[in-house]
Amino acid sequence: MKELKTGSIASVVVRFAYAGCLILSGACAISSGDEPDQPIAYNHKLHIETVGLECAECHRYVETSAAATLPPLEVCRSCHESEPLTESPEETVLLKYVADGTEIPWKRIYHVPDHVYFSHRRHVVLGELDCGLCHGVMQEQTAPVRSAFLEVKMENCMDCHREHKVTNDCLSCHR
Ligand code: HEC
Ligand code: HEC
Ligand code: HEC
Ligand code: HEC
Ligand code: HEC
Repeated sequence: MKELKTGSIASVVVRFAYAGCLILSGACAISSGDEPDQPIAYNHKLHIETVGLECAECHRYVETSAAATLPPLEVCRSCHESEPLTESPEETVLLKYVADGTEIPWKRIYHVPDHVYFSHRRHVVLGELDCGLCHGVMQEQTAPVRSAFLEVKMENCMDCHREHKVTNDCLSCHR
């Protein structure tokens, strides 16, 4: 699975799709500012571009399971052990969690309700879809996102299924 790089054709396609959904349906949310803040102002761009991490090193199950999952503290701790790497106050907060051994209570933005089945493996591995189609260009995010790029709405699932000639049988999503 390849990730979007700035300036790649894929990223242009994503930007085009983004503009398209704004114009056609208003279905894609832009930051509304009313979502809660995260416990640490985590920076995706820094960890991907500067540190060189891949999505699946933190979202460990994205290629093998339904849920991508958020990284447990042990992932952060493998680099942020005790000596600070920066002078950032956000890292001080992180090192406090590490010292206490307390999991970071990250908040989730994307959520399907219990009556809907969604599998990352199916979309990312079998469907070979880029993360950015649903999540936007995460490798450019310098702060946690506050709202969904492609909102988790039945119409948004179905629109893409129609485009890719994938079934929209009610029971394929509502199991
Ligand atoms: C070093 C670990 C790390 C890497 C690498 C990483 N992420 Fe994340 N990701 C996080 C953390 C921590 C959060 C929760 C805080 C936040 O929202 O910024 C998160 C949140 C997210 C979310 C929001 C999920 C939700 O429901 O709130 C998405 C989507 C996401 N990441 C996608 C990606 C993609 C795509 C990549 C690769 C391009 C990537 N991440 C690489 C650590 C990482
Ligand atoms: C076809 C759309 C789509 C694609 C492609 C996609 N996701 Fe997601 N993502 C979702 C949906 C929908 C949810 C909410 C799932 C849920 O509630 O179970 C989600 C949730 C997440 C979360 C929150 C934690 C979790 O386990 O649900 C993370 C992190 C995430 N995605 C990362 C990624 C990464 C990394 C990629 C690419 C490797 C990716 N996603 C590709 C639609 C997508
Ligand atoms: C592979 C090693 C590695 C992992 C894993 C890692 N980081 Fe980092 N992180 C770094 C490095 C290196 C820097 C300093 C980058 C620089 O400024 O040159 C850094 C910087 C930071 C900073 C300070 C800069 C800022 O954005 O304020 C924070 C906070 C941070 N990381 C949080 C996290 C969190 C939270 C996790 C786990 C989800 C995590 N890191 C996982 C290597 C890592
Ligand atoms: C960006 C395009 C896209 C979006 C958005 C999308 N899907 Fe899909 N979906 C696909 C593709 C492509 C496949 C076929 C993957 C494969 O080759 O197996 C698929 C397959 C599926 C399947 C398996 C269908 C079967 O044949 O049994 C389910 C279930 C599913 N998606 C649920 C969802 C749900 C739920 C959402 C919304 C939360 C969603 N999808 C959003 C593109 C998308
Ligand atoms: C591609 C996946 C997909 C397919 C196919 C699908 N749904 Fe859904 N459905 C969803 C998702 C995701 C939600 C939750 C988000 C939302 O409410 O828009 C949902 C929500 C619903 C709800 C709850 C709405 C509410 O307001 O709470 C009903 C009822 C429903 N679907 C019925 C159906 C019927 C009937 C069909 C067949 C004609 C169908 N769905 C096909 C993905 C799908």
